[in-house]
Amino acid sequence: MKNKVTKAIFPVAGLGTRFLPATKSVPKEIMTLVDRPLIQYAIDEARAAGIKEFIFVTSRGKGALEDYFDHAPVLEQELRKKNKTELLEILKNTNMDSGEIAYIRQHKAMGLGHAVWCARRLIGNEPFAVILPDDVIAAEKPCLQQMVEAFQENPGCMVAAMEVPRTKTSSYGILDVAEDMGTHVSVRGMVEKPEADAAPSNLAVIGRYILTPNVMRNLNRIKAGSGGEIQLTDAIAMEAAEGRPVNGYRFSGQRFDCGSKAGFLQATVSFGLAREELRDGLMEYLQDLLHVDKAAQ
Ligand code: UTP
Repeated sequence: MKNKVTKAIFPVAGLGTRFLPATKSVPKEIMTLVDRPLIQYAIDEARAAGIKEFIFVTSRGKGALEDYFDHAPVLEQELRKKNKTELLEILKNTNMDSGEIAYIRQHKAMGLGHAVWCARRLIGNEPFAVILPDDVIAAEKPCLQQMVEAFQENPGCMVAAMEVPRTKTSSYGILDVAEDMGTHVSVRGMVEKPEADAAPSNLAVIGRYILTPNVMRNLNRIKAGSGGEIQLTDAIAMEAAEGRPVNGYRFSGQRFDCGSKAGFLQATVSFGLAREELRDGLMEYLQDLLHVDKAAQ
């Protein structure tokens, strides 16, 4: 088996119901943080980690996503005519070369595990990354790059892990930790969305994974015996149950849950403040808001 991670799956076939009515016609992944769609942050992170093949698992109504990565000859020509080199450069970074990107359809939203399984023929016998674009991670060294580096020393499946308050465990996949070594934890199992009293830890899995091809075989097995949703967590937990290594990786960085409205708003403010040209004006506005709020109390 090859050890280098060069392929990434981006499951983007979900319905995005938490953002209705917007997601009736706009794919969630196209929604913008400041001036870039969520998917662009995910692609940039993947590139920084050495990913060369980008596999999108899409669904009906996601055409805007495919267009986003296409070249825009008319627009580019106009910008060239007007000598707008900076904007041209920004556009260039969104283009994907032919053959670099593949789209697979998930015909029915049958869960994240099923979405990943849909890409099985493009993966073959090598490890691969999975990136959920609605988890946006601000980090000095991009999260997936941290994980790819860690993976070279710790083969097996690796999931990004983050401490969450006990009261929030029911929103995440939670790790059952065998041994805690700080940045790494070795995992003996995973539980999907447990209530606080049933949670084996408060270490939650978030949307970055490096998986061995065996996980695809596990998904095959799960799919054969299931009529409903297929969880990726179950296929990874099977690896641990059968004695193969599964590691949690405590990444450094701040994660925003852009699949939720509150998380998306927080990310917007945070990424806005991180932009030099916007920082002062936005800060002033926020301070004014706080003032008004205090005065009203
Ligand atoms: P979510 O749980 O956020 O679901 O999926 P969702 O449909 O996108 O959004 P809500 O909950 O209805 O608002 C997590 C990730 O898994 C993908 C989603 O596109 C998202 O990136 N997914 C989920 C699929 O690709 N297929 C599925 O069947 C389910």
